[in-house]
Amino acid sequence: MRKINKIKVYLGILIAGLASFWVVLLIATQIFGFSVIGLIIEYGVDDAYTLGANIIIIGHLIIGLQIGLVLKYKFPEYKKNIIKALDYAGKGFSGGLCVFLIITNIIFSSWYLTSLPFLVELTNDREKAPYLTWVGNTSTSICISWESNQPIESYIEYGLINVSLGTKITAGTGKNEKNHTIFLNNLQPNTKYFYRVNGINKIYNFRTMAHPSQTKTVRFILYGDNRYDTHILAGPFKDSCFHTAILKKIIENQIRSDGEFDFNFTLNVGDVVLSGGVDYNWNQFHREISCLAPYRAYMIACGNHEFYQGNEEGGPHEAANMHKYWTYNNSSGDELNYWFTVGNCMFIVYNTGQYGTLKPSQVAWINETLESYRKNYDWAFLVNHHPYYGCGQPSSNITTMIMETIKKYNVSVSLTGHEHNYQRYHDSILNWTHIVSGGGGADLSERCTRHPLNFSASLYHYMVWEVTGNSSYVQTFNLNNEIIDNFKLYI
Ligand SMILES: [Fe+2]
Repeated sequence: MRKINKIKVYLGILIAGLASFWVVLLIATQIFGFSVIGLIIEYGVDDAYTLGANIIIIGHLIIGLQIGLVLKYKFPEYKKNIIKALDYAGKGFSGGLCVFLIITNIIFSSWYLTSLPFLVELTNDREKAPYLTWVGNTSTSICISWESNQPIESYIEYGLINVSLGTKITAGTGKNEKNHTIFLNNLQPNTKYFYRVNGINKIYNFRTMAHPSQTKTVRFILYGDNRYDTHILAGPFKDSCFHTAILKKIIENQIRSDGEFDFNFTLNVGDVVLSGGVDYNWNQFHREISCLAPYRAYMIACGNHEFYQGNEEGGPHEAANMHKYWTYNNSSGDELNYWFTVGNCMFIVYNTGQYGTLKPSQVAWINETLESYRKNYDWAFLVNHHPYYGCGQPSSNITTMIMETIKKYNVSVSLTGHEHNYQRYHDSILNWTHIVSGGGGADLSERCTRHPLNFSASLYHYMVWEVTGNSSYVQTFNLNNEIIDNFKLYI
């Protein structure tokens, strides 16, 4: 019997432990689609701790199993002498197995570490495919934003055919940047354009709206609260998958035979990310919407989670990333309160902040906008994140502040989210409809039954609004693309 070398014993255990840890971590990463270390960095230790601890425990169990196998099958005589068994393990690891484990550790570690969000951020690997918004005339202009991995010149090439993108537009600053925003103006109405943004070698396309007088039907997609949730095991594995599933169903169901989307734009009623202060959340959100947003305008009503810092409310950043990434018009002096028109519809989108509140200045702006332009449009939609009433605790002053406006200006529809379910309420006296569409991906809430509702359900869903003249036909789809609610509105 050779002499026990304790150093080799400990070395063997260390290497086996490391290898086991990485293997388990990698398997967990693949299964749950997230990185534990990334979560620790981005969300603090609370959420990551439980899972991390479990993984470490599983790693230790694997080491124990290895030692147990040695005890059982190789050296029965060591059954009662754990030190001798460990010595054997150490001996094995100190030889060829040791080299093998070190090499595999380096490979696994390199692969894993380079995929971590914080290193991804450090290495600038945060490309965001182009995404479209409307800031001006929807028939003749479009706003294209994207993020490149490295600072590069801000330009796009575009044209009417995809093999010849004849026109090059450079952003005004001319500086090399990573975040890019370019406005295309003087476009032809109802025309398909092809474009490529600098830094991303793919050709996308979009279609301008027809002139309002030529627009027979306005079609748009509505959903919200697509963020994944704070519960790690139930979160990224489950919730982000639901947003992705909804997007897949939209693509399946809302595409024409010529391959173009059969809708004009997407409206998201907010809580698009878990934590607005975390860049990685935005990267994930942008990856998810890259199947829609490069092709049709994507309009967002800022939600309370866009204000979060880590998992907490009350971050000091004032939805800075919402401002950073998303460009809407600045008609109110704040681009998170904006309005746009499509065909015979006007949409006023406003930000109800972290706690579902409206400021008098916002109400004044909404009233001024309606006073000036309501008469030009058949339909007026108010869009914001927090419902005027719903099943949650009363958290807002919205209802009292906005109902006079709704009556005075004959607002047709209010579109909201925040509660993770679906609610439809029609006030026949005001001829006004209040919608909660918060089933876009976050953990679902219970079905709401508190106040008189025409329909309510707890399920993941998206809505398709089709406005033709003085009538609207609305369908709400579940994840099987089955219609779970449909209704008609008339003005
Ligand atoms: Fe919310």
